[in-house]
Amino acid sequence: MEALVEPIQEGRESPIGRRLVASALPTLSPAMLVPRRPRARPPFPLSDPSAHFVYFARNGIYALARLWGLAGKEVLFPSYFHGVELDALLEAGARVRFYPVDRRMQVDPREVVQRIGKETAAVYLIHYVGFPGPVEELAAICEERGVRLIEDCALALLSCLGERPLGSFGHAAVFCLYKTLPTPNGGVLVLRHPPAIRLPEGERPNLASTVGPMLASMLQRLELRTGHLGRAIRRGVRALGAAVRWRAAGHVPTGTPSFDRSQVRLGMSPTCRSILDAQDYARIVERRRRSYFHLLGRLRSVAPPVFGELPPGVCPLFYPLQTRQKARVLEALRARGIEAIDFWGRPHRQVPWGTFPDSDHLRRTIVEIPCHQDLDPPTIDRIADAVVEAMEEVG
Ligand SMILES: Cc1ncc(COP(=O)(O)O)c(C=O)c1O
Repeated sequence: MEALVEPIQEGRESPIGRRLVASALPTLSPAMLVPRRPRARPPFPLSDPSAHFVYFARNGIYALARLWGLAGKEVLFPSYFHGVELDALLEAGARVRFYPVDRRMQVDPREVVQRIGKETAAVYLIHYVGFPGPVEELAAICEERGVRLIEDCALALLSCLGERPLGSFGHAAVFCLYKTLPTPNGGVLVLRHPPAIRLPEGERPNLASTVGPMLASMLQRLELRTGHLGRAIRRGVRALGAAVRWRAAGHVPTGTPSFDRSQVRLGMSPTCRSILDAQDYARIVERRRRSYFHLLGRLRSVAPPVFGELPPGVCPLFYPLQTRQKARVLEALRARGIEAIDFWGRPHRQVPWGTFPDSDHLRRTIVEIPCHQDLDPPTIDRIADAVVEAMEEVG
């Protein structure tokens, strides 16, 4: 059955077609840079008293592992993961033991419980794509067994289980801001154990790490709003940058797959605060949910997602389309101007192909379709049209 799944070739990235229709991430508007009072009290975790702001989530994971003294201790870890979160734990000296994740991205708490032993210091749970894992069950079990629970909410900012925010169940949680919001960088570590500890402030990132991604995001927004003119300007700026050999000296890119120890003390760029204060969080959740429903309505029978229901409170990060023709679907979508992403396509050295077949299946089949707050209903319709065409094209 696995042989039917088309492999993705290393390093193969299909270009975006003539015009960008939908970006993978929400974009930045200049108005968001104007300092202001927040619209309302920012939601969890942004206003949590224990919130510690970092450059990216991996730094929070590393800091947590050091703070809790996880070096040499066992952490139960899901078999399906990005890679950099695991590397952050490993770099801090933790030992990991994997538990399975099924083809629907579901974790069976019994699989975790049966692996808890004398050596186990913590359980690591990832809330995939904003959809809650079995966090209530695991929080209860961890409490009972004297084991700490870490919630990885890198993909689940603003998401709730019913009324309660994800990241508020465990002893600690990490969040990534720049996947959901148009900040150039940013992550949050929330600590319940020990409750009242202040971690040292992170180092200030250099200007290139702030200005470069912000400019790129604003140019992308311009292209999305103005079409050909914006695309020409964006190209012009890029060409100019290349011509004068402008190098973003010391720019620390986000979204990279590898952990870099030399960056662990890096904090969030101060500009991110203005951007955070400018956000209408209730609207972001509402728009993401509306877009997900819209895509679900249009695509359920043609390109079903992993999560066929959208429970109340969930803030979806993207529409996780599942296809056995991943590489070709990605290519067809990108040719139509949709910035679709190969989600977690490559395995980590610690979990080679064949170790957990269900996780392999997910790695081979999930395509990330944007459903973020910038996308209005006509654009969501264009995305759905592109997906339908792409699915027809690949058969
Ligand atoms: C589940 C998960 N945890 C942690 C991270 C690390 O996030 P960051 O890039 O902010 O360090 C990622 C990155 O994609 C992730 O997918």
